[in-house]
Amino acid sequence: MSGLLVAEDLHKSFGPTAALDGASMSVAAGEIVAIMGPSGSGKSTMLHCLAGIIRPDAGKVSYRDQELSAMSDSRRSALRRGEFGFVFQFGQLVPELTCLENVALPLRLDGVRRKDAARRAAEWLDRLEIDDVAGKRPGEVSGGQGQRVAVARALVTGARVVFADEPTGALDSLNGERVMRLFTAAARESGAAVVLVTHEARVAAYSDREIVVRDGKALDLERAR
Ligand SMILES: Nc1ncnc2c1ncn2[C@@H]1O[C@H](COP(=O)(O)OP(=O)(O)O)[C@@H](O)[C@H]1O
Ligand SMILES: [Mg+2]
Repeated sequence: MSGLLVAEDLHKSFGPTAALDGASMSVAAGEIVAIMGPSGSGKSTMLHCLAGIIRPDAGKVSYRDQELSAMSDSRRSALRRGEFGFVFQFGQLVPELTCLENVALPLRLDGVRRKDAARRAAEWLDRLEIDDVAGKRPGEVSGGQGQRVAVARALVTGARVVFADEPTGALDSLNGERVMRLFTAAARESGAAVVLVTHEARVAAYSDREIVVRDGKALDLERAR
């Protein structure tokens, strides 16, 4: 299999539960891939393996032809900081920081100067149509606005792959659609690939391709849009 990010024959068990049982999939550069399936089918486990957050019991994951499990811990964390971005369901923003500071944070950790980081963060808030929340803290904004802040923070460093696990799971459908529309437009504009876990067909509809996880295996629906 070829691609930017490739998982081959992954197996992962939690005690007696086989979450993944020979699952393979790949993601091309700039591609938006949805991982679908009912609750408990292994979607999050697949995402965590692809992102190098958990190590499969067997099988391998490669990013740019480099096997994640063969990398040192420091190389793998550098990859997660520099080339990967993450958007989860909720609770990922730092409550003490303003929304602008949350988006600027990964740049500051990379040594970008305060002024430059703030300027770049402001551009991303603007792109996600939330420049009005810049000075507010996460507790003072709506769920949809908070998720758009999280998307901005995932993309601000120039991530090549954004991993999103049920990013609209806590939102009503109108706000969910808005987040997905702005998220996918921003990812396309910056050329980032997206690995999107969802159990909702209308969220998966924003992807280029759908993978269904079932019985621990990944089925590629190969649906062209
Ligand atoms: N850390 C864990 N410890 C024990 N069981 C787990 C753990 N993570 C996942 N599982 C189990 O593995 C299966 C797949 O889980 P998961 O990947 O979270 O599914 P999904 O994201 O599709 O809901 C489920 O049966 C779940 O209970
Ligand atoms: Mg899950």
